[in-house]
Amino acid sequence: MSEHSGHSVAIVGTGSYLPSKVLTNDDLSKIIDTTDEWIQSRTGICERRIAADDEATSDMCAVAATRALEQAGVAAEEVGLIIVATVTPDMVFPSTACFVQHKIGASNAFCFDIEAACSGFLFSLDTARRFLDGGSVETALVIGGEKLSTVTDWEDRATCVLFGDGAGAAVLQRKTNNGRGILESVAGSDGGLAHLLNIPGGGSRNPTTKETIDQRLQYMKMAGNEVFKHAVRCMCDAATKVLEKANLTWDDVTWVVPHQANMRIINAIANRFDGNIDKFCINLNRYGNMSGASVPVALDESVRDGRIKPGDIVLFVAFGGGFTWGATVMEWGHGK
Ligand code: UT7
Repeated sequence: MSEHSGHSVAIVGTGSYLPSKVLTNDDLSKIIDTTDEWIQSRTGICERRIAADDEATSDMCAVAATRALEQAGVAAEEVGLIIVATVTPDMVFPSTACFVQHKIGASNAFCFDIEAACSGFLFSLDTARRFLDGGSVETALVIGGEKLSTVTDWEDRATCVLFGDGAGAAVLQRKTNNGRGILESVAGSDGGLAHLLNIPGGGSRNPTTKETIDQRLQYMKMAGNEVFKHAVRCMCDAATKVLEKANLTWDDVTWVVPHQANMRIINAIANRFDGNIDKFCINLNRYGNMSGASVPVALDESVRDGRIKPGDIVLFVAFGGGFTWGATVMEWGHGK
């Protein structure tokens, strides 16, 4: 709930976009040494979506954003702020949010990107909430979008089976009526562990040269086992902290919308609490890990298929490169 009594910041519309091309585990087993059985049993992933060559991150974000605005009944001109969470921007600069602004006609918005890897959507949600809470913005668009297929090393079987492309969006507004909306958020980072999950090439540390390309530094590198352990611990801690802050317990939570990296991570989180996996909104079997897009796509699907309803307590929790992690708890309500 807002620090300003009587106000709350609510999500009033959601949208998502998934590219049409499906890449199955069997397809992957034809290009690398892997099997559908290994991928499903180690990760829970069956297939993922791959964007078209001429489809950039902002193209996917713009469709997701338009769908969210339509659901909210909000015109693009009403949007005062656009934040895009991505590690696969269209270009190093300008921000992908600026491209989205132009595509959807949100001419009154100011725009920037947040780079917090798989926690990016939650960091963006919390950032937007503060602009709304402070009263300087009335309507914000928060989008998570990724074209991870462009930074995936298709010769590295340990990572290329994990990721996919897509985008999800949420429209946020400040409400005066009922106290519904975002209740509490927590976030954390540990830059000392940046080496465990990153894209080493293409930045100012290792600018792109023929050598960096020969060494394949433009692709994602991950120490999977190490990341796994930290992911479970940090996501459980973040969930516990945010519920404490909101004076809620795990039993109060109707739905958990987690980052979708690995079904074994999600099961470990469920087992740390009441073991009820049925209250997790899961889509990684169909889309793999879409980094900043995973949480908003899972949210949109769960709202549109009627699982998440007004009055439900929804817990978001994520973990990713940086390391970064965060959790947000909200009472769902679309009321104007
Ligand atoms: O989104 C941000 C956060 N990301 C995550 O949270 C990801 C966290 N990590 C993971 O999800 C898991 O660590 C992975 C799914 C990446 C890997 O699972 P794992 O159970 O940790 O496997 P492993 O890396 O320990 O590899 C086990 C074996 C190895 O063979 P040896 O050395 O035991 O002979 C690998 O070479 O599996 C082998 N392997 C594969 N085999 C078939 C690795 N990738 C594959 C593959 N197909 N695609």
